[in-house]
Amino acid sequence: MIKYIDEIPLKGQRVLMRTDFNIPLDDSGNITDDNRIRAALPSIRHAIEAGARLILCSHLGRPKGQRIEKFSLRPVSRRLRELIDREVSLAPDCIGDEVENQVNSMSEGEVLLLENLRYHQGETKNDPGFVEALAKMADIYINDAFAVSHRAHASVTGVPGLVKECAAGFLIKQELLYFKKAMEEPARPLVAILGGAKISGKLEAIKNILNRVDKLIVGGAMANTFLTAQDIDIGKSLTEKELVGTARALIDQAKDKGIKFYLPVDCVIAQDLDTNAETRIVPTQEIPDDWMALDIGPATSDLFSEALYNAETIVWNGPMGAFELEPFSQGTMALAHAVGSSQALSIVGGGDTDLSIHRAGEVENISYMSTGGGAFLNLLEGKKLPGITALEECSKK
Ligand code: 3PG
Repeated sequence: MIKYIDEIPLKGQRVLMRTDFNIPLDDSGNITDDNRIRAALPSIRHAIEAGARLILCSHLGRPKGQRIEKFSLRPVSRRLRELIDREVSLAPDCIGDEVENQVNSMSEGEVLLLENLRYHQGETKNDPGFVEALAKMADIYINDAFAVSHRAHASVTGVPGLVKECAAGFLIKQELLYFKKAMEEPARPLVAILGGAKISGKLEAIKNILNRVDKLIVGGAMANTFLTAQDIDIGKSLTEKELVGTARALIDQAKDKGIKFYLPVDCVIAQDLDTNAETRIVPTQEIPDDWMALDIGPATSDLFSEALYNAETIVWNGPMGAFELEPFSQGTMALAHAVGSSQALSIVGGGDTDLSIHRAGEVENISYMSTGGGAFLNLLEGKKLPGITALEECSKK
């Protein structure tokens, strides 16, 4: 059992809150999507109102132990200041004497943002010295960084071992709650939609999902390996030859379990992955040798949408094609609209899927957009997140 932030007194305490402020920035350092900052606001506001001395920490990008200016959390401190309408100081680093002095002079309700944790290699290495340097600044540790909770990093799994009390924030609470509703206690039929380039990266997720769903819809390049497993010649489309046997076994497994398994019946093909390439729409059985499938076709979009007609729960991860290029984006957009117009409880996770939903203008119509990419996939794989396990261990103290 883990505790949540509203179950422990925070007044006057030095509260170290791990957030995931790993947000996208443009070349001039402007934030292009502040969702992850907004997602942490309920916990931040709660801690301020409860009178905590709030120390926020996060990574941004992968600076690999180097102090690189473009990975500074300065833009985050500015945006956060606007969002909570109060001063958010940015510490010069995340550990060290100067930061400690700053922390020790904080008053109740004050907010300090530590500089990028990954400016130190100790963060990703979960180095005991780095863990200690962070933990000694905190009386209480809160993890609200769902999107990084699959990493056994110092600020995720190390610090909870050294502080006297720990809890999860409201974002983690929401993520776990929605995931449970969707995958553990779903209203049925439960339909999973999986896309993206490769089966290999999602093999564990597919195996786990096959124990839970009523229907499985597979699109994107990963569908090619399943089509090959059905002896369909897919031209020069991306395929994982070494996994064709596995794909065949998964199809058989789905059949044995009575799961309805949907694959593309037509596709948008081109000879090159290029926005100016000539495209055609063909049945999947008729892909010429030197052409490749780069998106699902309109018949498949209709088929997949129809398969959602009686869904009570939908879980979606991964695009239906090379959606970043306009000529190959229609299938993913059509599915985003289909999921958006469904009355089912819909949960969407992963960076590309998130982006597709935004581009399709369907954000308001999705029940829950997970902030996690890798963390969401880990849950789909049936794994326990190390960050959550660390909170459970801490709660036993
Ligand atoms: C993410 O964006 O998925 C998280 O912030 C984790 O980032 P990472 O993959 O660099 O650990």
